[in-house]
Amino acid sequence: MTKDINKEAFDDSTKLKLEIFGNCFREWFPVFKNNLFIKKVFVYDFFAGSGMDSAGNFGSPLILLNESKGKNRAYCQNAKIPISFIFNESKKRKADKLKATTQQFVSACEIENCCGKCEYTVTIRNQDFKNDFYNPEIQNILRNENYGKFILLDQYGFKEINKKVFLDLVSLPKTDFIFFISSSFIKRFKEEPTTKAYIDTGKINFDDSNPNECHRQIGNYFRSLIPNDKEYYLHHFSIKKGSNYYGLIFGTNHTLGMEKFLKVCWAKDEFSGESNDNINNDHDPESLFYKPEKSIKREEVRKLIEDKILTQEIPNNLFGLKYTLRQGCMPVLFTEVVKKLEKNKKIGRYGYLNFRSTNIHKAPEYGLTIL
Ligand SMILES: C[S@@+](CC[C@H](N)C(=O)[O-])C[C@H]1O[C@@H](n2cnc3c(N)ncnc32)[C@H](O)[C@@H]1O
Repeated sequence: MTKDINKEAFDDSTKLKLEIFGNCFREWFPVFKNNLFIKKVFVYDFFAGSGMDSAGNFGSPLILLNESKGKNRAYCQNAKIPISFIFNESKKRKADKLKATTQQFVSACEIENCCGKCEYTVTIRNQDFKNDFYNPEIQNILRNENYGKFILLDQYGFKEINKKVFLDLVSLPKTDFIFFISSSFIKRFKEEPTTKAYIDTGKINFDDSNPNECHRQIGNYFRSLIPNDKEYYLHHFSIKKGSNYYGLIFGTNHTLGMEKFLKVCWAKDEFSGESNDNINNDHDPESLFYKPEKSIKREEVRKLIEDKILTQEIPNNLFGLKYTLRQGCMPVLFTEVVKKLEKNKKIGRYGYLNFRSTNIHKAPEYGLTIL
């Protein structure tokens, strides 16, 4: 039987996972809340737990609520549109505890800030995930183009997010999601029919000589499921705990969502933006030669971008900026390559010249020519 995560104090890897959830939501929330084309915001935590660990550390639902206040309550005082939090937990005992914990959190916040009734709506549900996710009422919300949705899926193991659920998540409009997955277990039990029933392990190239790449390979598997004609962005972050690898998979159909998530990941791992475990073996934090600017990942992607510009596979900045995001790097890397090639008189640029590398959905387009 799986150990109940809320019964003990969260360990360091759980704290890292929760921190990434929180930081990701911190980036996401103001963007969706202030988007003029979004009429309502829904935040789903489908595997919410009971709210805290045994030491009183916040679990994901309280982290989400806390972040949603904003600095000096800038967000909740000025909500403008309806904002709903929906927390689901399948165990009745834990769902009841979560209800009490969130009520306490909201009441304490109302008293501390003398603001009367909280602007936000918090609903606790006690359902099995798939019943809840495929509940027609919830599907209507999730499929509504006018609503912004953030979906957190902190499953135990790997069995809840199968191919169908993943593709359904990918198909949702104005929705970003992040899920947790036990990658080492998929690798260890890859031949078991019970594993294959959820994940097509035949399509995953596990590299036994590099066990620390296990979650990267799981990320590549999910990436391979996305239809070729769909503009979609997926990133993974690998978390080592003991000798096991777990990880997060984040999905968005907007470049800004990807920029924001990559920012969170590169702040946690300045060498590769994808791991708490030196995934490319390119640094020893204890040594004198700890130089984040010498990142194997960035150098590899820099080289790929340069080659693709010089072979004209990258014909313009928009293509190049998105390509860089897809490689898991911040778009500024593309701009650095363009500047260097231009300085060395290898390429020219035409059109609306700019070096915009953030909010790239607003970047004007320029073309690239080979000199
Ligand atoms: C990893 S824990 C989530 C912890 C939570 N994010 C936190 O920070 O405290 C997974 C939770 O999902 C619940 N759970 C397991 N299977 C579920 C299912 N099929 N549907 C909904 N909840 C489920 C478990 O009881 C457990 O509380």
